[in-house]
Amino acid sequence: MIPESFIHDLLARVNIIDAVDRHVSLKKAGANYVACCPFHTEKTPSFTVSAVKQFYHCFGCGAHGDAINFLMEYRGIGFVEAVKELAFSVGLQVPEPQSDVSTGRSNTAHNEDRDTDCVLHDLLEIIRAATQFYRKQLKQSEKAVDYLKQRGVSGETAARFGLGYAPDDWHSLSALFADYRTEKTRKKLVHAGLAVSGEDGKQYDRFRDRIMFPILNQKGQIIAFGGRIVGQGEPKYLNSPETDLFVKGQEVYNLFLARRAIRDAGYVIVVEGYMDVVALSQYDIDNAVATLGTAITSVHIQKLLRQSDKIVFCFDGDNAGKKAAWRALENSLDQLTDSKTIHFLFLPEGEDPDSFVRKNGKDAFEQHVAQAVPLSEFLLHTLSCGQSLQTSESRARLIHDVKPMLQRIKAPALMLMLLKRLSELSALDQNELATLLQIKQTASVRVPAKTARKQPASPCRWLLLLLLYNPKFFRNLENETLVLDNDTNEELAALKYLVEFFNGHPDIVDNAQAMSILSFLQDNPYRVLLEKIESEILEWDDAMDLEAEFAGAVKKLQEMQRKKRMKELHNKPLNLLTDAEKRELQRLAMH
Ligand code: UTP
Ligand code: MN
Repeated sequence: MIPESFIHDLLARVNIIDAVDRHVSLKKAGANYVACCPFHTEKTPSFTVSAVKQFYHCFGCGAHGDAINFLMEYRGIGFVEAVKELAFSVGLQVPEPQSDVSTGRSNTAHNEDRDTDCVLHDLLEIIRAATQFYRKQLKQSEKAVDYLKQRGVSGETAARFGLGYAPDDWHSLSALFADYRTEKTRKKLVHAGLAVSGEDGKQYDRFRDRIMFPILNQKGQIIAFGGRIVGQGEPKYLNSPETDLFVKGQEVYNLFLARRAIRDAGYVIVVEGYMDVVALSQYDIDNAVATLGTAITSVHIQKLLRQSDKIVFCFDGDNAGKKAAWRALENSLDQLTDSKTIHFLFLPEGEDPDSFVRKNGKDAFEQHVAQAVPLSEFLLHTLSCGQSLQTSESRARLIHDVKPMLQRIKAPALMLMLLKRLSELSALDQNELATLLQIKQTASVRVPAKTARKQPASPCRWLLLLLLYNPKFFRNLENETLVLDNDTNEELAALKYLVEFFNGHPDIVDNAQAMSILSFLQDNPYRVLLEKIESEILEWDDAMDLEAEFAGAVKKLQEMQRKKRMKELHNKPLNLLTDAEKRELQRLAMH
């Protein structure tokens, strides 16, 4: 692990403008620099780099990060490699690895409360050793090799995916570690998800008699496994549990290996199973990825849309497939832009991509992909399905169902087309429809306004933005400002998170004005939101009294929280109010 202080120094030394310009030629535009985005295809530049805050953001595809992220994404290299390269460019020497220091990037936000016995570095090491062990075991197991052969997986494909075999034994993996009987190692094995600790205190290997599929994160590190039983048995697949390294709702199987193929093909195929990905690759279709036995989340979709403008979801033709597709649709609505498209492909009943491609070959599969249904069509088709739309009631019903979904779509051209289609289906005039659905029709596609200062949507968001811009404002925040509210507002939660982070990192508060704070919060739970907020800095003019803005936003937030609390107390019957609550109410009312 590279110490956090080094990353800090490095980012302070590197100028992101130079780092990007070496690969993508930048043009000055106001306080920022712009170029056509290297991460998606476009004709007018929406890739914007901030010299002041040292981050990039693409208004087209949402790519976002600092100089290190840029190198990783652009070159498809790992974190350490990117750091080394940047360090070299500014004449810094990367310090020798220290096993007990973890950087802000070492993954997850759990760094603070980590158990020092189980730092992430150790977990990665254990998993790496396990991968090697499983691979070796595969070579030695006739049974496992026969199984893969019988499923049409060549040795080359198996090697590409790093497939392995976990022997049918309770301790063979653990025994690999010479000191596995010590408490420390036992704990690490459990933390890494490789061993299970039974009620009686006995510990055994989690994966036994299974084909092992290593799961890589976007840095190319192995963080977990999926294990398929050899032949019949339950459960068919066993996956690593969620660990400090592995969050299922965020990881996508094969995304790391598929990057280049996705870029070349111009789209990414999302399938349901590990074996589907492997089988497609066996047929030279290398731009396929899979979720890990979970539904598709919006984090998945965001990750995928970063890599490509087009996602093709591929589902089984049965009811379960249709249901999974619908959930994927629901989770993608707010991420659609007019340049990003999502398609749905349903295979014939009883087939999955693996069986289909083996039966019909690559061309037939690609033909199916080309005929995939666009999201808008799938949406309207599903909602109007089973209703003849002959009666006014059925048409009203359609409008009712479609309303909450349309309200989440922000892509203007897509919205317009949906309204057109819907107007045909419902026999309502387009304007009537827009009014009914409470949708604002915008004629033009959103262009980031360079001069007009947008009023932020909420004081919380404004505070987040100001804090990301200048963390020193954090010191103007009184402690009690954020304690009142306990509901699930994401912006407020992110604000609390950020404030907590600043509390624990006074050095960053003092010394990171000219850096992106997100450099130090790589894998935080609010990343998507914070990136979006940070990107608003790019649209600022500099004629603002930021300190006054900050104070104003704090006041507004306090006022909102005061009103909310008063309402809560008012809603309680008077005789149920405790004395403390009565006093509180009085105090709140005095303001
Ligand atoms: P499938 O049962 O469709 O898998 O589950 P598959 O890839 O077609 O399996 P094969 O062809 O029989 O080997 C799809 C995915 O759901 C998850 C796994 O991620 C699997 O790849 N799954 C399935 C589990 O996590 N556990 C299970 O018991 C089954
Ligand atoms: Mn299958």
